[in-house]
Amino acid sequence: GKVAVFASGSGSNFEAIMQAFHNHKEVKPALLVCDQPEAYAIQRSEKWQVPAFVCSPKLYASKQEYEEAILRQLEEKQIEYIVLAGYMRLIGPTLLKAYRNRIINIHPSLLPAFPGKDAIGQAFASGVRVTGVTVHFVDEGMDTGPIIAQEALAIEIDDTKDTLTKKIQEVEHRLYPRVIEAFVLRLIHVEEGKVIWETA
Ligand code: GRF
Repeated sequence: GKVAVFASGSGSNFEAIMQAFHNHKEVKPALLVCDQPEAYAIQRSEKWQVPAFVCSPKLYASKQEYEEAILRQLEEKQIEYIVLAGYMRLIGPTLLKAYRNRIINIHPSLLPAFPGKDAIGQAFASGVRVTGVTVHFVDEGMDTGPIIAQEALAIEIDDTKDTLTKKIQEVEHRLYPRVIEAFVLRLIHVEEGKVIWETA
């Protein structure tokens, strides 16, 4: 299936996704959607020769019109699945309706702890000794949809926010491609608000 990756920033997860799938038979990253014209993710998409749709929300009269413009691109490219990778906006009803249960997100904490922005900083400042990474289905809330996968990691005594960030990113870049593969191969379903993994 064809996948669109949504990003707003550096795109290190986009990079990991491209490394994992650029020659894959069934998982085809076919579009980068980016709401920040200066984001480094765009340069990565050029390197991988993946088309980028760069869409500044400011150029649209409403969130609905913004998402309708994205939707047209998704339809034109026959995108079946959406993978959020550091996309710093809530997905609105327009995209949610069109891609029901076909949008996933990665978040750098063990949800439901530390949703929203700067989750790594929130976890570090809170004094928890264990944090991690969550991949989940996207619903209308902020980091609230059904959880697909989580990986925990310890915050060591000598960790700084920087060293913790590096550890979290390593986990993300390993975990997300695995989950994306299962998602696109339709091995993951939502039933009554919970995630079921199909055993192959
Ligand atoms: C990741 O930590 C992701 O979990 C969070 O934003 C960050 C994006 O990083 N939502 P990158 O743009 O993929 O490097």
